[in-house]
Amino acid sequence: MSKVLVTGGTGYIGSHTVVELINEGFEVVIVDNLSNSNVEVLNGIEKITGVRPAFENIDCVDYVAMDNMIDKYGNIDAVIHFAASKAVGESVEKPLLYYRNNLVSLINLLQLMPVHKIKHFVFSSSCTVYGQPDILPVTENAPIKPALSPYGNTKQIGEEIIRDTIYANTNNYQSIILRYFNPIGAHVSAEIGELPNGVPNNLLPFVTQTAIGIRKQLQVFGNDYDTPDGSCIRDYIHVVDLAKAHVVAVRRMLEGKSKDSLEVFNLGTGRGLSVLEIIKTFEEVNQVKVPYKIVNRREGDIEKVWADPTYANEVLGWKAQETVEETLRSAWAWELNLANRKN
Ligand code: NAD
Ligand code: WQD
Repeated sequence: MSKVLVTGGTGYIGSHTVVELINEGFEVVIVDNLSNSNVEVLNGIEKITGVRPAFENIDCVDYVAMDNMIDKYGNIDAVIHFAASKAVGESVEKPLLYYRNNLVSLINLLQLMPVHKIKHFVFSSSCTVYGQPDILPVTENAPIKPALSPYGNTKQIGEEIIRDTIYANTNNYQSIILRYFNPIGAHVSAEIGELPNGVPNNLLPFVTQTAIGIRKQLQVFGNDYDTPDGSCIRDYIHVVDLAKAHVVAVRRMLEGKSKDSLEVFNLGTGRGLSVLEIIKTFEEVNQVKVPYKIVNRREGDIEKVWADPTYANEVLGWKAQETVEETLRSAWAWELNLANRKN
């Protein structure tokens, strides 16, 4: 049984990936410092899979603790590195916190891999590296645009650090960089999902919290963009589809199928949806109202971006399967389940 170290494994995307890894027969070790997640996520993972993964409350920035932890488990075949701080606004206020957390964690892992003879590395990158692309849909070959926030910059610099490290050690390392578009939704069981800290920054948690009454009104940031209905367009992808791509990526490296020691894939659906379309579809499929008002544009927002997922479809051998309707149903089921737990 192959063993995968998942950093940030109690987080939103990490927990869904752990479930898919366990379902596909991998042994999982989670490392998370719980800075943006809750240890109870392990209960959800166990309920879904029947397996409670090994868990270590460790900060990836702590090299010695990470070294000791990897020693303890031994024979790790691959690392999936989710652990990072991800709030764009906070990164503007506290840039050094973001550079330290996201980059030192990454450097530690890349340094520890050869020490422990671990060869395979999957990195969580983001479509944010493309900024506003000149050509849509955006392919992996599109130019990287200047980052709009320290958070976005950590993803760009992270990619460069990986690239330089891989090319300096071609025989030792292999990596797959995955550029996520906008992950939304939750596991069909509603046992795990997104747990935003405080007031959500992202659209979907704000939509579900407004629908359930935690928030009075959703603010739609602008309706004067150059899009059919004037609101911004994104490529929203079901988090379980995204999670499955990580299993495919790990397998690809373990089975020696990579074409290069470093590969980069877009993880999106190829379908762009506007903010207003998301609200309307959410209301329709869940039969619930989402009170909203149009307000000014949010500073730094990209007007429109969606993926060309052809390379991931054809070369990685992965394709997003879920419909947006199913995805929005799962997001609502998760919010309802959270409300039940509190009562
Ligand atoms: P999340 O905050 O839910 O998960 C990240 C997890 O990492 C959390 O559980 C947190 O406690 C943990 N963590 C953070 N710093 C750590 C450290 N130093 N040591 C150990 N654990 C640490 O976020 P997510 O949405 O699941 O994102 C996972 C990854 O995907 C991140 O790298 C993020 O930047 C990237 N990403 C996310 C999105 C998105 O929209 N959610 C889009 C593109 C890329
Ligand atoms: C989506 C759309 C908003 C909230 C951010 C990061 C990016 C990536 C994903 C990690 C936009 C609109 C939102 C609200 C709204 N993360 N919106 N009202 O901006 O595409 O990307 O998260 O890498 O780096 O920048 O996602 O969910 O914040 O916004 O109208 O209350 O919803 O304007 O058009 P975004 P989002």
